[in-house]
Formats: sequence, structure tokens, C-alpha cells
Amino acid sequence: MKILMVTAEAVPFAKTGGLADMVSALSIQLAREGHDVKIVMPRYYKIDRKKLELLPGPMAIAAGNEETWSAVYTTKMPGEEKVSVYFIDHEQCFGRDGIYGVPGETDFHDNPYRFAVLNHGAFQLCRKLGWYPDIIHAHDWSTSLAPVLLKNVCRYCGFENTASVLTIHNQGYQGVYGKDKFPALGIDWGLYYGAGFEHNGAINFLQAGVSCADMITTVSPTYAREIQTAEGGFGMDGLLRVRSDVIRGILNGADLRQWNPEIDKKIPANYSAKDLSGKTKCKAELQKRMGLEVNPDIPVVGIVTRLVDQKGIAEVFAPTYGSIFNICANMKVQFAILGSGETWCENEINTLQSKLPNLRAYIGYDDALSHLIEAGSDFFLMPSRYEPCGLNQIYSMLYGTLPIVRRTGGLADTVDNYNEKTGDGTGFVFDQLTPGAVYDTVGWAVWAYYNKKDHILKMQKAGMKKTFGWDEASSKYVQVYKEALARGCSRF
Ligand code: ADP
Ligand code: GLC
Repeated sequence: MKILMVTAEAVPFAKTGGLADMVSALSIQLAREGHDVKIVMPRYYKIDRKKLELLPGPMAIAAGNEETWSAVYTTKMPGEEKVSVYFIDHEQCFGRDGIYGVPGETDFHDNPYRFAVLNHGAFQLCRKLGWYPDIIHAHDWSTSLAPVLLKNVCRYCGFENTASVLTIHNQGYQGVYGKDKFPALGIDWGLYYGAGFEHNGAINFLQAGVSCADMITTVSPTYAREIQTAEGGFGMDGLLRVRSDVIRGILNGADLRQWNPEIDKKIPANYSAKDLSGKTKCKAELQKRMGLEVNPDIPVVGIVTRLVDQKGIAEVFAPTYGSIFNICANMKVQFAILGSGETWCENEINTLQSKLPNLRAYIGYDDALSHLIEAGSDFFLMPSRYEPCGLNQIYSMLYGTLPIVRRTGGLADTVDNYNEKTGDGTGFVFDQLTPGAVYDTVGWAVWAYYNKKDHILKMQKAGMKKTFGWDEASSKYVQVYKEALARGCSRF
């Protein structure tokens, strides 16, 4: 099949979260199975033109009220030559730092126009290449315009046999903008209602994508159910229930070339389930690097996260009631934290590290450190309010680090709770997102660390044996693509 991934992020070029990992890993896997996969994304300011190849000739894009022009660059996906990545090079839209906005601040006010350029540009790119895909696969609100365009605008212009799939990585981000921005989209006003943009008098990109896509996927089976409830749907659960026959939940895999303790070059020592001695070295290096007491006997809890409400940060870090101060004050445990996001939380973490010798944090984004935390920690805390899939708990299990998670979304689908009698399980799971539950569950893990060493080892090995590769997931996507083609094309 010919598949075009339309996306705002893809590793290693641009990333704010797991979407970037997923798009590249799935593309690589599909290409290895013989599919013809291309990715189109913006050339953000930070992506160096010198490392890319310029396609000859400019490209006209009909976003906004008039045509605009962009250059197109291309390169091969590092590690998989078969996947070509195309970059829409539009200075006005993407020649700045930040993917959706200035990090930690609000979205760019011209996002409707910026992403209209990306989505229209995706279709124009196909025309430019003379390559018309079977599937246009869009990801989240920022490329939700692509299914809208396919259904309403581009169907008869070379894309007669193309179908669309929209993957919802996060229902909490819908791309909501004032109605006055609608002309930026470069489509007929009739589509404001006709394509399902209208939401409480504003534009809602994701809602239009959900209305128009031939098939919809989300990144775990539990999350596919949760988005259809009032709590998980963020105001869109009604529409999602209407479309439930086309919604599938497919659990993400992990990119095992990047996240494998046996070959990971970003950690000081490699190891496997058979011989965990390298993990002890990683722990010592992590303690040293973070400025924690270097002591193999004290359990280290790692956190790597965007510091946003979705991740349960209030219950852990809020100044007056967050659990972490009491955990660190009362338990013989260490915390190694890496994260960036909401300013209050960054400040609070810095305050905590000035008060607590057993909590050390790096505020920022650091890929190498995230690998060291996964490898060097004994536990990994992920108390998410909601979690569509979650990659870090998967990486944790692969690295013999036991996740402590709330039972939600992909966390519920991937982590098996500890059984104190048998030592079965792959982590520690709790239900209610309260500071008390976080405290108790970290306490339970710390207790097991000191008192049930054999169980901890058994769980580490059980997690490391799990297969989180992309092969199973990719065959499910191919199935969805086939269903999309059957549905999309049968309408015309
Ligand atoms: P989400 O996409 O909601 O942020 P995921 O668990 O799916 O959650 O993916 C997060 C990804 O981003 C992981 O690969 C994680 O290692 C990475 N990540 C998050 N914050 C940071 C950070 N501060 N530094 C390095 N990597 C980070
Ligand atoms: C989103 C979700 C996360 C998921 C990732 C990749 O960012 O928050 O749970 O793992 O997308 O699909």
C-alpha cells in the first residue's frame, strides 16, 4: 500500500511527545513490510536545511484567502532508507522555534493558518511527486484538516482511490480557535458546519477530523473506550459514540532500535534480563549525574514527563497537598526527575530539590538523560490523569524498571499489578488519582524493594520479556487501512 503520514512531529526531526515516536516507528515498520511510506511535516526553524535535499521548483498552496508558495525539502528516515520524509518549507509559518507554540506558553495565534498550509501542502506534494497514496494517515488535531480536505475538496483531483485514517493520540488537545480564523483554512464557509468544525461557536479541528475520517484509531484499546465517555471525551464523546463503528484501539509499540538495554548507546552499560549487572552501573551513574547519594541499596524512582495536568502533576507536586514532599521526607527513597512544562510545576520542583537531598531534577528536555533515567531507576512513576497509550511505562518495563501507574488508558493495558502472594506482575497499579494513593503505592513499591527482593527480580524479568515491538501493531494498522479503503471508496 502507498501510505502518506501527515504529521506535525516525527523523530528525530521534531518532537514534543510520544506522537513523534509513534509516527516514525510505525512508518519504518510498514516500510519494512513492503509498503511504500512517505512522511510529510513542516520544516521547522531548527531542522537544518543543509542536511536536506531541495526538490526542484516551488509549490503553490491554497491556504488562507490566496495562494502561498513554499519550497519542499526531503531526506531519508535515518535508519530506514525506504521511508522518505518531506518537509514543507514555509518561512512565515514554520521559520520559528516551537511546534505548536512557545514552549510553556500558549499556542501560536496563527496555528489555523500554519496547519492549513501543512495539510493543503500534503496534497500538493502528492501532485508534485505524481504519487497518489492509498491512505492518508493523519495524527491529532494539527493534521485533522487532511481527512476534511480528502472528503470534501480533493476527492476528485487524483485522490479518487485514497482513504483517510485519523489517529487520536490525545483527546485533550482538539485545536480550538475563534470562528474568525476560519478563512485561514482556505476552504468554503459551508464546511464550517458541513465538515463538523463548529463547536460552541468556535472552530474545532479534531472534531472535523473525527467527522470526516474514513477510519479513526486511538493508541490503546482502553483509551478507545474512554474517549467515548463524558470524562474522556472532552466534550466530543457524543460524536465519538456516533462514530464508534469506525474507531479502533491499537496499542503502540516501542522503537526497539532506540529503546533496548542490550544495545542502547546512550547508557553507560548494557544489560539484559539474563544479566542485570549493567543496570547496577547505570544506577550508580544516574545517582552521580543527578547529584544523589551514590548507594545501590536505596531505591530510585524515575520520572520523565511533560509537566502538564494530564500527567497527574498536581497530585504529586502541588505545593500544599502534592504527595512527593511527604514521600521523600518519610521514605528511604530517591527521586530522579526530568521534565518541562507548566511554570508553577517547574518552580515547585526546584523548590523541592532545595529542601530535599533525595530529590534531584533536571528541568528541560534531554533525550540522553531520559535513557539514563529509564536504565538507572528501580521504579518509574506515571500517575497520569489520563494516558492514551504512554510510552515511558513500556520503556521502563523493557529496561527492568518497574512502573508505578494509575489504571487508565494504555497504562491499564500494559502494566500488570503486583501480586504480593506470587510475585507475579510487572508493576504497581492504583485506581484513584489522589495524593494519598500516589503516596501509598510508592510506599508499597518501596516496601517490596526492601522486603521482597525475589519478587522485584521476578517482576523485572517478566517486564523485560514482554514484546512491545511494532510488528503486531502494524498489521492491525494495515487491517484498518483496508477497512478505510472499503469504506472511503464505497461512498463514491
Ligand atoms: P506524551 O506523548 O503524552 O508526552 P508518552 O509517554 O507517549 O507521553 O511519550 C513521551 C515521550 O517523550 C517519551 O519518549 C519520553 O521519553 C519523552 N519525554 C518527555 N519529556 C521529556 C523530557 N523532558 N526529556 C526527554 N524526553 C522526554
Ligand atoms: C500522546 C499521548 C501518549 C501516547 C502518545 C503516542 O502524546 O499522551 O499517551 O503514548 O501520544 O501515541
